Amino acid sequence: MKDIYEKAGLFYLGKDVDKTTQEPTNLLTLLKSKNFTTHAAIIGMTGSGKTGLGIGLIEEAAIDNIPAIIIDPKGDMGNLLLCDPSFDAKSFEPWIASEASSKNENVHDYAKKTALMWEDGIKKWGQDRDRVQKFYDVKKSIYTPGSLSGLPINIISSLGMPSLEILSDSDSYASYIKSTATSILSLVGIDSNGIDSKEYILIAQLLNNAWLNHQEVSLASLISQVIEPPFDSIGILPLESFYPKNDRFALATKFNSLLASPDFAMWLQGESLDIQKLLYDENGKAKVSIFAISHLNDNQRMFFVTLLLNQYLSWMRRQSGTTTLRALLYMDEIYGFFPPSKNPPSKEPMMLLLKQARAFGLGVVLSTQNPVDLDYKGLSNIGTWFIGRLQTSQDIQRVIDGLDSKVGSSYNKQEIKNLIANLKKRTFFLKSSHLDDIRLFSTRWVLSYLKGPLSKQEISTLMASQKSAISSLKTQQTIPTDNYETYQDIDSSILQYFEPNISHTQTYIPTICAKVNVHFENQRKAIDELIEVSYMLELSKDTRIISWEDSIELKDDFSLYPTTKPQKARYQTLPSLVQKDKALKHASKELKDYIYTTSRIILYKCKEVKLESKPFEDKNDFLVRVQDALSELKETQIEKLQSRYDKRFDILQDRHKRAMQRVQKEEQDSTDSMLEAGISILGALFGRTTSTKVGRAISKGSKVLKEKGDITRAKQRVNDIEVDIEELEYELEDKIEEINEKYDINNISLQEIKIKPKKSDIDINECAIVWRSSLVV
Ligand SMILES: Nc1ncnc2c1ncn2[C@@H]1O[C@H](COP(=O)(O)OP(=O)(O)OP(=O)(O)O)[C@@H](O)[C@H]1O
Ligand SMILES: [Mg+2]
Repeated sequence: MKDIYEKAGLFYLGKDVDKTTQEPTNLLTLLKSKNFTTHAAIIGMTGSGKTGLGIGLIEEAAIDNIPAIIIDPKGDMGNLLLCDPSFDAKSFEPWIASEASSKNENVHDYAKKTALMWEDGIKKWGQDRDRVQKFYDVKKSIYTPGSLSGLPINIISSLGMPSLEILSDSDSYASYIKSTATSILSLVGIDSNGIDSKEYILIAQLLNNAWLNHQEVSLASLISQVIEPPFDSIGILPLESFYPKNDRFALATKFNSLLASPDFAMWLQGESLDIQKLLYDENGKAKVSIFAISHLNDNQRMFFVTLLLNQYLSWMRRQSGTTTLRALLYMDEIYGFFPPSKNPPSKEPMMLLLKQARAFGLGVVLSTQNPVDLDYKGLSNIGTWFIGRLQTSQDIQRVIDGLDSKVGSSYNKQEIKNLIANLKKRTFFLKSSHLDDIRLFSTRWVLSYLKGPLSKQEISTLMASQKSAISSLKTQQTIPTDNYETYQDIDSSILQYFEPNISHTQTYIPTICAKVNVHFENQRKAIDELIEVSYMLELSKDTRIISWEDSIELKDDFSLYPTTKPQKARYQTLPSLVQKDKALKHASKELKDYIYTTSRIILYKCKEVKLESKPFEDKNDFLVRVQDALSELKETQIEKLQSRYDKRFDILQDRHKRAMQRVQKEEQDSTDSMLEAGISILGALFGRTTSTKVGRAISKGSKVLKEKGDITRAKQRVNDIEVDIEELEYELEDKIEEINEKYDINNISLQEIKIKPKKSDIDINECAIVWRSSLVV
């Protein structure tokens, strides 16, 4: 049974390094994924292997179906997409082309060499193709706010309202407003620290006013509100004396030129910043979302990072509590976003995250070259430290001071100083509140090819297929081009609306639209939901029956359209069956029947975790909750195992130690041929750095002692105990396997409960012919 760590909620980070030789041992460095809910920091000089460690961590999470959001100020994290389980040289070609040409090498040959090297590295660290495949299968996207090279992100909708949970918590809400206002101002180059800047006070008040009235705010709507705020005093001061209109106009002009700049148009395209969608794909599976921001200027970066952190906080507050790791937020190069003495807009939400995210199972991992980049108050909330090689003795001293009370027992300060100064590349000093002592380890080979920063062009190529998938979703309507009439005599009992026509040809096609209220009620399930839906059905001259099955749900409110006929427009013919349908009574009745037979609230129920979905909760969102609950159950079960096996292992280890002492007494120099016993999985589960070790590489067979003739009894005794220990570990692995099966989401079935409306609870509020502008030339 190999790689049991995949099933026990453990991250495989690398192998422990011997502190004297600095060489990796056979002992795997495994950390419980759960430990990351108390956050981690990675510190090390350039080239020390921070990004490699971060990428490895995200790979581990992805393989365990734990999603990640990554903020990437430098551009390296897109390397997570450079992964090919077949190690085909062809796929490596575009990744190494520039390196090959800078070395004057043939691209094809160089790709071959690189692919081989990468495959070899991965194998040497005990990872097979299945593992690479598992990671490869996780959906990964690179978003480029303010640019179309990757997937664009629409920030207009994202100034959006904080969730109700944030609104109801005064501290979180104040922080949300504060950081949104400062980051908006930073976008137009105004550095406000929130104390006495009138720009800040005005913007914050505008946001507050809108959100408390449940109104969305966009940058565009802010401009007009800056000029004409919906209030006339600020605190006790009249608005005009606090911030006269002329000055407000100057501020509005700044925003206006920002909005009008062609660059800014890029900020308004693409998906909105919806955290749930960034964390889970269409099937509710974990995904990796990378925000590449290296192309932005400092103000824009600050604005975006603050916005993202705020959205994340807002989403977080809507989650239920958990003790397992639900998602990772990783930031490569924290420099400038979380400094000790200044207060940039990103700092407050980051601090809140570090303080609160744990309860929601959200781990934050921050990476930096320099320990001075991190605010010390934030540091006290970080449970796990990865320290790589540091350059100056000042940096080393700072880190050691920071760790002071936390340094483990078996190292003294001077020793740690020397260690950190002499760490090899990819070797980290690991100190965690979840471990009983310091560990040194070398990072495992990453599954993604570490190319270094990706260019805009490279991001664009990597995202090409995801981009086209998005645009093909917006399929064009096909509309016949003939048969337009200038006038139709339509019965006055039929309500008509005219969508504002933006086509050059001023042509209209008819649709029949309806607004409906449906009341779903079920006392036993405590359901009492009133929903409003609008439907639209396209019509053509030849429509013979109104089949609402072909209708689509409408987002816009057609009843806001004008009811007067535009002068010069031309119309397609309304089918005669509609012409005859006075007040569209017949069509309304058909719609009622259609809704009665098809409209359902579907509730999902999962017995194993005793969860039921909420009305209108998306099935995948529910599955994500089920998955969270399963992980939690699994973890509890594994912890139970832990306590059961802990004692048994202790006893065996104790015996082993004594038996070894016997051998040593009898035969002074035989110790190095002895196997060291101890359990890596168990050590990891127990957060123990075992003093005695058996690498998992040692198989049972290898333990049969070869030199039969000269085995002493004592040696045999040691051997027997080692076999016992191994047996026990196998037993534990079987148990973990069983638990995994039991709590595997693929082995869980969902029950569906359908709730239908009463016919009398369906009200067709409005049914009308809506003329839609046809864009066909
Ligand atoms: N886990 C790993 N597996 C394979 N190669 C690695 C790994 N970690 C680091 N490397 C190699 O070492 C190089 C430098 O490591 P990395 O980019 O992680 O350093 P860094 O600390 O992030 O540096 P910087 O501060 O400049 O970003 C990588 O480009 C890669 O070639
Ligand atoms: Mg790096």
